[in-house]
Amino acid sequence: MIFTMISLILPTYNEAENIPELLPKIEEILSGIPHEIIIVDDDSPDKTWQVALDLSQNKEDVHVIRRVDKRGLSSAVIDGFLAAKGDVFAVMDADGQHDMELLPKLYVAVKENNGLAIGSRYIEGGSVGGWDERRHFLSKIATKMALHICSVKVKDPMSGFFALDRKVFEEVLPRLNPKGFKILLDLLVHVPKETKATETPYTFGVRQLGKSKLSWKVQIEFLEYLYDVTVGRFIPLTFVKFCIVGTFGVFVHLIAYGVISRSIMDGDPLTIGGFSFAVIGATEIAIIFNYLLNNSWTFAHQKLRGTSAIVGFFKYNVACSFGALANWAVSAYLFSIGWIDFLAVFTGAIVGVMWNYTMNRMFTWRK
Ligand code: GDD
Ligand code: MN
Repeated sequence: MIFTMISLILPTYNEAENIPELLPKIEEILSGIPHEIIIVDDDSPDKTWQVALDLSQNKEDVHVIRRVDKRGLSSAVIDGFLAAKGDVFAVMDADGQHDMELLPKLYVAVKENNGLAIGSRYIEGGSVGGWDERRHFLSKIATKMALHICSVKVKDPMSGFFALDRKVFEEVLPRLNPKGFKILLDLLVHVPKETKATETPYTFGVRQLGKSKLSWKVQIEFLEYLYDVTVGRFIPLTFVKFCIVGTFGVFVHLIAYGVISRSIMDGDPLTIGGFSFAVIGATEIAIIFNYLLNNSWTFAHQKLRGTSAIVGFFKYNVACSFGALANWAVSAYLFSIGWIDFLAVFTGAIVGVMWNYTMNRMFTWRK
């Protein structure tokens, strides 16, 4: 076999305590194979990048990428791959949880199958180690769900420990989704069906120092990812989120309407003028609520900040005024033909939400 080069990517976020111990061990294990180690750090507050840079002085095979404007495991790994010179790429946690003794084996497996080699916790001989019931359970469910969407089926599609042929990566690169933690899953979803994948068992170890970054946010990103690669191809997630925000907005609208209308009525019957005033007030309150929620959740990936947030709010209002006009016209019409006021308001608000998505996708949060 021709030994060429393995590029090992170590994504890091707050691993300053682990790197100094880890690096020499990896270098020892990889000493028989031409290799490079690329640490991709997202400007960790604990200055992991600084520690890594200090350790890499006088070492030609260790490189450090410090990303200041991005966050996320998958995108860090992708950036590492893009900077890599080897013909085999590998990824490993930088906290000592993965059995680095397996690296040469993963490398050889990729050289043989020209595909993927995965460190697996779910095949004979492997295990998740000392996980608590809750994480074990969640991981099992997530793995089951994930398997449905993979074009190449393996037992541990969510492993963070694997190697692959450079060509496999280059082929799927344009289709990769950099969201969240699931880089291997994303690869398995997008590679051609004939791609070979070998699994090698290992026991998931305990983290040396520091904390896991697999937060509830990462778990939600996983669900969003599953949506994106299935139904999301037809109905964008932003539309679904916009509708959810809109639904909450309808409630805010109804409550605001109730408060305003009942306070101006003061015991008297509601006039059409008073009704319109309450509807317009309630609409603006709902618009403010929806804008804030859409900006921080629906369009979190293109969140408007500072002055842009103010300009965005202005645009949002203009865009929504079409929706509000339709909202007002529909509800006032339905009220005038004798509908119960709350039902008229409700129907008007629904029509408004549909207008608003289209307008704001065109003007406020443009793709
Ligand atoms: N650059 C960068 N940016 N690195 C990150 C980020 C980030 O936003 N988030 C986490 N990392 C790094 C960590 O510093 C660590 O080296 C590695 O990515 C994995 O993160 P952990 O926080 O150690 O995750 P885990 O051990 O809980 O999860 C492991 O198991 C999962 C499956 O159960 C990982 O191996 C995951 O990749 C795997 O999916
Ligand atoms: Mn870990």
